[in-house]
Amino acid sequence: VPKRTTTFELTLPERGTAVPAYRWLYDNLRSEILKGHFGPGARLPSTRDLGEQYGLSRGTVVFAFDQLQSEGYIEGSVGSGTYVSHTLPDELLRVANAIETEPPMRRRPRRRLSDEGRRVTAFPVLENRPSRAFRPNLPALDLFPTTLWAQISARRLRRASTNLLLGCGAMGYRPLQEAVSGYLTTSRGVRCRPEQIAITSGVQEALDLAARLFLNRGDRVCVEDPGYPGAALLFQGKGARISTAPVDEEGMKPSEASLRGARLVYATPAHQFPLGTTMSLVRRLKLLDWARRQGAFILEDDYDSEFRYAGRPVPALQSLDRGGHVLFAGSFSKVLFPSLRLGYLVVPQDLVDRVAAIKSLTSRHPPLLEQAVLCDFMTAGHFARHLRRMRQVYAERLSVLLDGARQYLVGLLDVSKVEAGLQTAGWLRAGLEGESAATAAAARGVEVTPLGRYSRRRLDREGLQLGFAAVDAAEIGRGVRELATALEMEVKRTCLPGRR
Ligand SMILES: Cc1ncc(COP(=O)(O)O)c(C=O)c1O
Repeated sequence: VPKRTTTFELTLPERGTAVPAYRWLYDNLRSEILKGHFGPGARLPSTRDLGEQYGLSRGTVVFAFDQLQSEGYIEGSVGSGTYVSHTLPDELLRVANAIETEPPMRRRPRRRLSDEGRRVTAFPVLENRPSRAFRPNLPALDLFPTTLWAQISARRLRRASTNLLLGCGAMGYRPLQEAVSGYLTTSRGVRCRPEQIAITSGVQEALDLAARLFLNRGDRVCVEDPGYPGAALLFQGKGARISTAPVDEEGMKPSEASLRGARLVYATPAHQFPLGTTMSLVRRLKLLDWARRQGAFILEDDYDSEFRYAGRPVPALQSLDRGGHVLFAGSFSKVLFPSLRLGYLVVPQDLVDRVAAIKSLTSRHPPLLEQAVLCDFMTAGHFARHLRRMRQVYAERLSVLLDGARQYLVGLLDVSKVEAGLQTAGWLRAGLEGESAATAAAARGVEVTPLGRYSRRRLDREGLQLGFAAVDAAEIGRGVRELATALEMEVKRTCLPGRR
């Protein structure tokens, strides 16, 4: 087993005057080893460093080390370093277990938390399990050009200036702001200048920035229903009051009541999450008009609209805005990969300083090296190429899903002919119910999310969300067949009178 070195300076508790110095050091080092804070083979600090750090004579430290060595906790010799033993005797490990198993806490300690600290609800993390049909919200990670990314990263690091190690402005790495601004202007019709682009840690940070900018506790936010839970949870955590607007085939349909008093509207106009519809021009203009009259803001979440397979490209809602009422957010999570944690928020010119101030006190800026690598990836043309390639792959996968649905799912599930994004929705037929349909599908190795999970009310129609991007055509084909069998069995199980 190779020897490892300790990477951290050792921090030991204060020494009381009643305990001799060597005993204090011996006890604490032994306890660190037994608790596993120093693993087998870890290098201990030198006797000289320890002596200097804790104001002890070298002889005192050597005495403590000698005792630990004679009892088998550590090994090594003067000059070549001291290491934690690779094999700690059983007896010692029993002591370790005794130390590890501290008595259970009887009562939770009373903590005085902020309203947000008490109220906040966690958003589920992406689970690390093999992809299968029809996992939503995920691109085809196995087709990401990791070797190319590694080459660009290595080149960047080899040529890293001290500035790259130092940091950048709060709004982000300027060349990346320029690349993103160019991309959004051309392909999404967004009206912006590079300085308006805040590079964020995904759309999620963009949502947080918008909440900090516009919302006080008790303020009203209007969100889509069904909608993206990560937005509503965040606004709720901040103490905002949520009102909801239904969604139909023209996208979000806010009523006067749902907009009344709202400071902010959160919407996914290009590809509604989770239904996949595109907001009509009439609705867009209405919403903008409302925001202008009320002095309110719209957060346009453009999370996966890069992938459009049919219909005319739909310019961003932001492109129609004249008064600076729209903040446009987008992400590299779906076009590249989610763990990159990079996205952007296009901020109205007069709010740039405010956003920069907030960012300077929170995330400061996303990791600069990743920003620089992404910038190289974009400016060298790899981004556009990857997008084109993935659009083709996903279009094929979508058509396999739609063909399969026509062949196997008629009367069970009406799959929407979505025009963009990484997922679509299917409407359940034959009286099928969302949760039990999803459970039946899971038993046959198929993942579908009931649309009801994205809603705060009972939906008029029950349905399932189906991702089609993350897995290949064969798996989609298998998924369709298994889903059909699962739904048919479910119809029989619930003894419903045939397909309607
Ligand atoms: C509609 C929607 N908006 C925002 C996000 C968050 O994206 P990011 O990874 O950029 O924070 C997601 C993630 O799944 C999403 O589905």
